[in-house]
Amino acid sequence: MDSLTGKKIVLGVTGGIAAYKAVEIASRLRKAGAEVHVVMTREATEFVTELTFREITRQPVSVDMWAKVTNFNVEHIALATLADYVLIAPATANIIAKTAAGIADDMLTTTVLATKAPLIMAPAMNTNMYENPVTQKNIAELKSRGVQIIEPASGALACGTSGKGRLPEPAEIVQYVMDFAAGEQRLKGRKIIVTAGGTVEPLDPVRYLGNRSTGKMGYAIAAEAAKQGAEVLLVSGPSNLPVPTGVQTVRIQTAREMQAAVQAAYAEADAVIMSAAVADYRPKTVAAEKIKKSEDELVLHLERNPDILYGLGQTKAQQILVGFAAETCNVEEYAKKKLVKKNLDFIVANDVSASDAGFAVDNNRVQLYFRDGRTERYPLMAKADLAKVILEKLAALLP
Ligand code: C5P
Repeated sequence: MDSLTGKKIVLGVTGGIAAYKAVEIASRLRKAGAEVHVVMTREATEFVTELTFREITRQPVSVDMWAKVTNFNVEHIALATLADYVLIAPATANIIAKTAAGIADDMLTTTVLATKAPLIMAPAMNTNMYENPVTQKNIAELKSRGVQIIEPASGALACGTSGKGRLPEPAEIVQYVMDFAAGEQRLKGRKIIVTAGGTVEPLDPVRYLGNRSTGKMGYAIAAEAAKQGAEVLLVSGPSNLPVPTGVQTVRIQTAREMQAAVQAAYAEADAVIMSAAVADYRPKTVAAEKIKKSEDELVLHLERNPDILYGLGQTKAQQILVGFAAETCNVEEYAKKKLVKKNLDFIVANDVSASDAGFAVDNNRVQLYFRDGRTERYPLMAKADLAKVILEKLAALLP
């Protein structure tokens, strides 16, 4: 599918000089088959008139929350409900900040807060405003909530400077929306098991062996897979993250519990993505009472946990298997060995010795090694974006 036939799109236009480009965006969305409802901020009306959008879209244009009521629908709720997608282009630093903070003080922000439709934003502003840490923090926050951010282009800006912050060409923005709409249901009807977080291996009633995994990567994958239409089973070790919408979650503690939960759903699954940091060892005995300290050394005897993914690889039928390799050195060599040994379709490898990527942070920098020998290297990116990459690669391998 490469058209937007029958889709209802709320196009939010905010007050930047690039607002004039939104006219072409509205026109192209319509030509792609969408019904376009424009919501402008007051500031946007200083740059382009409501009339222009009304003529282009053949739909009423909303600006004012308190305009005379013409029907009984509460307008921002009606728009929020009818939207298949909400696209904000251009998105100023202001609307980005308001959306990140949950502020609803005009028609557009109220619609955004009230909608359950996917939100796509195309930031456009002066480079310094874009690069300002608070804007970057807001963008990261929005991404982590699943908002699609269209990277601004670099080039000459209206303020006379040059740099990152230009609104991409309308054709590119509309293409992004079309790709998103096509990708959204790419995994429809597929059953995908995702494991996340670390396992916890008890030592006595109050102590355990664990690791630093927070589950961020796995939760991002689970959320994205559900968004793309998959039936997702998330098998998660302890994690403080909220359960993603539309995802069935099983909480486990130990590696053996994780193995049992994965095995129970494996036969029916189309794919397993093992992003969990599974403990390789567990205490040989779990003390019934709290272990008391003494003056002596404490020696713990550990025994091997099952390698869950290896086991899945041994009995693999139709399932696509994706593993992770968190390494501190020789990343390529170790990852490729695991790919073969565990009978995987591809492995996501990362160097966890880097402080800006890997465990417990929002970003990751990975290489993908495929069964057919291909290697793909990616720059530092948000885990939410990496989830999309992983699922795109997975979708391409599904029969
Ligand atoms: O061998 P290593 O632990 O580095 O392999 C990592 C991959 O194997 C990850 O995908 C991890 O989830 C999985 N794994 C597993 N069972 C284990 C250890 C790791 O499934 N006991």
